[in-house]
Amino acid sequence: MRRYIIAGNWKMYKTITESIELANSLKRELIDCASLDIVLCPNYVALSEVQEVVYGTNIEVGAQNVFWQEEGAFTGEVSAAMIKDVGCKYVIIGHSERRQYFNETNETVNKRITHALKHELIPIVCVGENLKQRESEKTFEVVEDHIKGALGGFAKEELSSLIIAYEPVWAIGTGKTATPDQAQQVHKFIRDLLAKLFDEEFASSVRIQYGGSVKPENANDLMTQNDIDGALVGGASLKVDSFVKIVKITESIIK
Ligand code: PGA
Repeated sequence: MRRYIIAGNWKMYKTITESIELANSLKRELIDCASLDIVLCPNYVALSEVQEVVYGTNIEVGAQNVFWQEEGAFTGEVSAAMIKDVGCKYVIIGHSERRQYFNETNETVNKRITHALKHELIPIVCVGENLKQRESEKTFEVVEDHIKGALGGFAKEELSSLIIAYEPVWAIGTGKTATPDQAQQVHKFIRDLLAKLFDEEFASSVRIQYGGSVKPENANDLMTQNDIDGALVGGASLKVDSFVKIVKITESIIK
């Protein structure tokens, strides 16, 4: 059985002080939620303090990106060793905002995954179509391209920790959510594709999160879909109440 994973992507929100406060409140509320994985992804400068808050609990920390070189003159970049050293277990790679605003491509996503895996970070690899692509019925084509680009050249053994996040761009931060059916359809497509590219056993073991305006109101309907194994939550992860509810709703499905 795949273990559910709920991750909060805090994006470029929260100062260090605010991040510590949010992490402390979440820790108080979620300390007993041990039947699923919970991950907080604050900005780089708050990673250390957030890690300190949740250290030794059931809550883990992830970074929002990683560069692909070990070290060097790459002003502004952060390596996997640095992320690992600060205590991160996870790293988000290829988020649509990175693709949209920072020229992230399948090729750079692939390099970042290689580097993250080398340092035993668990990659949360984001894929998903934008509105224009959905409207012109290119969803599956785009998702296939993202998956093949991200995972090309890897053997399944190297990808045993892989997490995929299906995030339709038109649903991110817009309040529009994919319907549970729409999301399930793409998740199933991704799993079938993984079976084709690798094998059935591998495909059935990979966790696929849904992301895009996940909130307490839609969490149950999304998380109960067969091929949805968790959520990558943006806006609703910045508020204690809504993130806690999403985690608890997901927990109630497991029990
Ligand atoms: P959202 O963001 O929940 O605010 O739509 C999700 C994401 O970008 O990961």
